Amino acid sequence: MYKTTRLSLFIIGLTFVAPAFAAEKDPNLKLIKARQSEMQLRSFNAGPLFGMAKGQITYDAETASKLANNLKALLELDMGRAWAKGTGNDAYAGKTTALPEIWSTYPEISEKGQAYAKAVNELAAVAGNGLDALKGKIGALGKGCKGCHDDFREKKN
Ligand code: HEC
Repeated sequence: MYKTTRLSLFIIGLTFVAPAFAAEKDPNLKLIKARQSEMQLRSFNAGPLFGMAKGQITYDAETASKLANNLKALLELDMGRAWAKGTGNDAYAGKTTALPEIWSTYPEISEKGQAYAKAVNELAAVAGNGLDALKGKIGALGKGCKGCHDDFREKKN
């Protein structure tokens, strides 16, 4: 009798705890974090390149080359698992700005990804060759980011 009561109390306890626990441990939240973190790394590396092109930061060949090559290195990451279907802002409002169109219009986003990759590769090849060379390729990089965000990322208010 005592045992049964303890057991049922334990089970009741579990049912109260479970929903909060489940929300916290939803593995999709982790993958959303991962893809956002990779985007943050893009921003971290691309930011100073934009700054140099605009003359806000003094151009430095070594730094420019390193930053552009960091962007190139990021292309090597296979982040596919972080873009699981069903993890758009329709299901995870407030947690992600990824639009459901990523999945409903697939593979359109991969075309944007390819345009971006091309821009990164072309920039990395010349970023250390002087400010003019950087300026010649930075526009395509900006378009690469924006081109995808315009269609597949929730607009900032
Ligand atoms: C092929 C599409 C695509 C390209 C190219 C792309 N992004 Fe993104 N980016 C996204 C999507 C989709 C999100 C929303 C991710 C989410 O919230 O889950 C995002 C989110 C972000 C965020 C916000 C991350 C966060 O913490 O919420 C930053 C910053 C960002 N991108 C920077 C960049 C920069 C800089 C570039 C170019 C150098 C770039 N992105 C290129 C699709 C792209």
